[in-house]
Amino acid sequence: MSTEKPYVRIFDTTLRDGEQSPGATMTSAEKLQVAHALARLGVDVIEAGFPAASPDDWEAVHQIAQTVGQGSEGRVPAICGLARASKNDITRAAEAVRAAAKPRIHTFLATSPIHMEHKLRMTPVEVKARVAEMVALARSLCDDIEFSPEDAGRSDIDFLIEVLGIAVANGATTLNIPDTVGYVTPAEYGTLIARLKRDVPGAEKVIFSCHCHDDLGLATANALAGVMNGARQIEVAVNGIGERAGNTSLEEVVMAIGTRADFFGMRHGIDTTQIMRVSKLVTSCTGIAVQPNKAIVGANAFAHEAGIHQDGMLKNASTYEIMRPESVGAVVTKLVLGKHSGRAAVKSRLAELGYALKDADLDKAFARFKALADRKKTVTDADLVALVADELYQPVERYSLSSLEVKCGTAGPSSATVRLKGPEASELVMTATGTGPVDAVFRAIDSLLHVSCTLLEYSVQAVTEGIDALGEVSVKVESVQIAPQNPQHETSGKRVYHGHGAETDIVVASAKAYLSALNRIIAATDAAQAAEAAS
Ligand code: KIV
Ligand code: ZN
Repeated sequence: MSTEKPYVRIFDTTLRDGEQSPGATMTSAEKLQVAHALARLGVDVIEAGFPAASPDDWEAVHQIAQTVGQGSEGRVPAICGLARASKNDITRAAEAVRAAAKPRIHTFLATSPIHMEHKLRMTPVEVKARVAEMVALARSLCDDIEFSPEDAGRSDIDFLIEVLGIAVANGATTLNIPDTVGYVTPAEYGTLIARLKRDVPGAEKVIFSCHCHDDLGLATANALAGVMNGARQIEVAVNGIGERAGNTSLEEVVMAIGTRADFFGMRHGIDTTQIMRVSKLVTSCTGIAVQPNKAIVGANAFAHEAGIHQDGMLKNASTYEIMRPESVGAVVTKLVLGKHSGRAAVKSRLAELGYALKDADLDKAFARFKALADRKKTVTDADLVALVADELYQPVERYSLSSLEVKCGTAGPSSATVRLKGPEASELVMTATGTGPVDAVFRAIDSLLHVSCTLLEYSVQAVTEGIDALGEVSVKVESVQIAPQNPQHETSGKRVYHGHGAETDIVVASAKAYLSALNRIIAATDAAQAAEAAS
C-alpha cells in the first residue's frame, strides 16, 4: 500500500472567475504574464478564460495555450477554457485550448430549481438531455472534460446525482461541484461531496472538485471540507478575487494544507515561496487591492504590533507565528540597487523577483529604473516591481502622456496643461482648471479624449517609506460608452475599468493611471466594434 499522501490538484481560475470581479478586466498581455507566473507557482490547471465571450477572450486563451500550455516555464499546467453547454461555446473553447500540451474544456449547466426555472427556462428532463449531448460533444473534441452543475449547492441531491452520472457516462473526467452563490456551510459541503462520491454512477473513475464562493466568508472552509471528504481538486483564485465576494483563495488553501499537514494529510504541487510575488502581480494587473488584514498576503499578515507579541517573537518566532514569512515569499530584500547599478544587476534582481523579461522589455524597465535612481537614493524590490508593472502591464497605449504642467496651491483654482501623444504621432494639448491639480488634469484629459465615464475610485499609495518614495495611483472608472457585449462582464451596457500609474510625482502618476483606464475603454470599444463589423 502506498504511504504517499493524497495529491490535491490546484485549479486556478484567477483569469476566468477572478476576472469576473468588477473592474478586474485584464489586457491580453497582463493575462499572459499572470499565466506565466501561475505556471511558475506550480498550479495544475489554469482556467485561462471564457473563449466564446469575445474574440479578445478567445485570443488570450489561445495565446496562453500556445505558450504557457507548452511548458514555457518548465512545468506544464493543463490549460482550460470555460464553455456554457452549447455547441458554439464548446467548439470555440476546444479551438482555443487545442495548442496546449494538456488541453481541458470546462462546460457547465445549472441544476438548481431556481436556475432551471428562472434562468434557463428548461425542465429537468431537458437539462439532463443537454448535459448528455454537450459533454459528449466536448469529449469528442478533447480528452480532458470538466463538468459543473452550476448552483450545485442549492440543487436537489437526487437530481444532482443523476445529472453527474450522465456527465460521467458521456465522458466527463472531472466533476466540479460549485457553490455558485456561497450559500452552503462547511459541514453541508463536506457531506455533499461524500454523498456524491458514494452515489454518482462511475464516481470512482473521476476526480471531484470544489468550487466555492465567499459570500458568507466560508469559501476556504468549504473547499477544505470538500477535500476532507474525498475531493481531489480545489478551484481557487489568487487573493481570493472573483464574482461578488470572490472565490476560495489560492494562498489560503495551499498554506492551510501545508501548515496543517498533520491534520489534512494531503500534499500539493505549489511552490509557496512565490505566493507573495504572484499576489502582487495580480493586484497590479486587476487593480484590486488586498485588504491589509487578508490572511497570508495582507500587509499585516506577518506584522506583530502588541508589545507582548513582539517580546514573544524576539524570544522565539514560533510563539506567535504559525508560518514563516519567507515560506510565502513575504520577505523582500531592501536597498539593493542604486544609480550606479547596471543593466545586468537590474536584470538579475528582476529574475530573482520572478520577472524573466525579454530584451526589449528589459530595456524599457531599465530606462525607468535609471530615471528613478536619479531621483531616489535607493531603489528597492518594491520600487522595481511597481516600475515593471507600470511600464509593461499597461493596455495598448492609444494615447500616452508626453508632458504635464500644473499650477496649484492656496492662491486659487488649480490648472493643468496636458500634452498627449496620439495615433500616428499626433499631439493633443489642453489646459483645464479644477478644484485641485488632479481634478484639473483629469478634466484636461476628458476634454481631449471625449471618453464618457465616471470616476468611481481614486487612491494613492506610497510604494516604500521615505519622502522620495514612488507613489502608486489606482483609479476605477465606469464606462458609459457603447460597451462590448460580453456575457462574462456585463449585462447593463456599463463596465468598470481600472488603471494604474507609478511615479515619484503623484500628479504625473494620477495622469498616467487615468489615461491607462481610458486606454482600456478605448481598446475594449474598438474590439467590440471590430467584432461587430466582422460578424
Ligand atoms: O460559480 C460557478 O458556478 C462557476 C461555474 C462556471 C463553475 O463559476
Ligand atoms: Zn464561480
